[in-house]
Amino acid sequence: MKTIGIIGAMREEVMPLLDFFKKYEEVKIGGNSFYTTTYKNYNIIIAYSKIGKIHAALTCSIMALHFCTDCIIFTGVAGGLSSDLKVGDIILASSLCQYDVDISAFGHPLGFIPESELYVHTDSNLNEIAKKAAMKQNIKLKYGIIASGDSFISNAQKKQWIIDKFDACAVEMEGASIAVVSSLLNIPFCIIRAISDSADDNADISFDEFLADSAKRSAAFIISMLDEMQ
Ligand code: ADE
Repeated sequence: MKTIGIIGAMREEVMPLLDFFKKYEEVKIGGNSFYTTTYKNYNIIIAYSKIGKIHAALTCSIMALHFCTDCIIFTGVAGGLSSDLKVGDIILASSLCQYDVDISAFGHPLGFIPESELYVHTDSNLNEIAKKAAMKQNIKLKYGIIASGDSFISNAQKKQWIIDKFDACAVEMEGASIAVVSSLLNIPFCIIRAISDSADDNADISFDEFLADSAKRSAAFIISMLDEMQ
């Protein structure tokens, strides 16, 4: 039986999944609760990491190394950078980067760490499943680069800087960690996010207003992906 790990950053991002599965067991490791259940012929492990790249890296490592997940799916919300992304829209990451890595003093491009990759690509099979699930529901999935960093972006200038430097469509605080850890451990992964705000000067207000609803949209989309899996 295959094991699927599903990670969110915040409680609000995984609660809709736990409400859906209803029955689950809890295992505590490394300051996180991992909720285990089964769905169809899959073992499912769900956890929220807490906000930020370090927390997400730890949770993803535990998923991979303790629970031996066969793949990892991230669900949650993001700030929209592309003008065609509105609150509630869903984005599927093509690749992820860390906009807050800067060792340009040594001549490296922004976001680049030696012996690593600037953009880490998501798994094409999982992305195909997401695209099929979207098509069946008439959901227009945005497919593009997501930039991650340890700041909540609520500033039009900083937003434009991330667009210009990284060509990103959305910004959040965990995706690149999942990407780096999963790819180094050879675990297929994908990142799904529903837009909660536009990372501009009103982002904090928009985030508070739409977090719950957008988190539910993303979680519902993850269920539709599980239904699409063979
Ligand atoms: N997650 C949701 N909105 C975000 C934003 N504006 N910045 C960083 N992470 C986010």
